[in-house]
Amino acid sequence: MKLLELIEEKLLEELDPKVKLVLETGRYLIEGGGKRIRPLITSLSCGMCGGDPEDAIPLGIGIEYIHAASLLHDDVVDGAESRRGKPSANLVFGNGITVLTGDFMYAKALNIFATHGDIIMIKIVSKSVMEMAQAQVLELSNIGEIIDSDTYFKIIDGKTSSLFGASMAVGGLKAGYEDWTTLYEIGIRIGRAFQIIDDVLDYEGNPEKLGKPISNDLREGKVTYPLISVMDKIPNDLIREVIEEINPDPRKIEELRNLVIEKGGTVKARNLAKEEVNKARRLLETFPDNIYKDEVVSIIEFVIGREL
Ligand code: FPP
Ligand code: MG
Repeated sequence: MKLLELIEEKLLEELDPKVKLVLETGRYLIEGGGKRIRPLITSLSCGMCGGDPEDAIPLGIGIEYIHAASLLHDDVVDGAESRRGKPSANLVFGNGITVLTGDFMYAKALNIFATHGDIIMIKIVSKSVMEMAQAQVLELSNIGEIIDSDTYFKIIDGKTSSLFGASMAVGGLKAGYEDWTTLYEIGIRIGRAFQIIDDVLDYEGNPEKLGKPISNDLREGKVTYPLISVMDKIPNDLIREVIEEINPDPRKIEELRNLVIEKGGTVKARNLAKEEVNKARRLLETFPDNIYKDEVVSIIEFVIGREL
């Protein structure tokens, strides 16, 4: 059976809560879709480092549970209305049940790492969640603020890159490859590219493919790289009218979105994402060639070219 099919099958099987509503809520998010990039990376990293990719599947499932938990919590924090083309879990089940199911999934993940992994993996993964939570606080506290690129990278490295770093590192560790820091850095670079493209898609993606409306970031007062990269070419008043307003005028949002694209902000952001994946590729060159390494490269290419 193909790796992705095995991952998909185990994702629901492993969850196994005692309370039906926890299963329903967890299942709702998991069955809602998702590209399973992180668990694939974990298995491929294990294969790339000389292990059997299937041995790392439970660890990849643990990583995906952390990702799922973070999305459940994120939708409550953001007051989201849709995720993966469906009403978000907070709308369907309410904030309380959504947060608690996220707690369950996070604890389940740590339990998996304690069972199928080791103490180093638990350290890496828990540190990554600490970074995610802190980055979310940093992002939240900067809503309505015009941030610079330093703050932007602190936010994306914490909220997204760190879990990609952990995904790569635990796969290698499962294969017995102890120098996990290079693997972690490859993951960080992939994660950065992933989040930058995510932020580009919020400007020029197709809402139907994405399963959520575009311009969410501007509407919520979030400044991301496409805007940061052309900030000096756009009238400051317009930026403030959108970012600093609690309920910005939709016409102003559209005007700012179009100007960011016209001034080359999304092209600059895509180029930056490409630079990050090139750095990841260079780091990958230090590993021996094999089919799993080739598949990591394919995932990297997918991250850059993706439309959802
Ligand atoms: C989505 O970002 C959210 C994240 C990438 C991370 C969320 C992290 C936490 C809530 C802290 C960690 C918590 C646990 C339980 C592991 P986004 O809002 O930019 O993207 P979106 O458009 O998909 O919502
Ligand atoms: Mg969100």
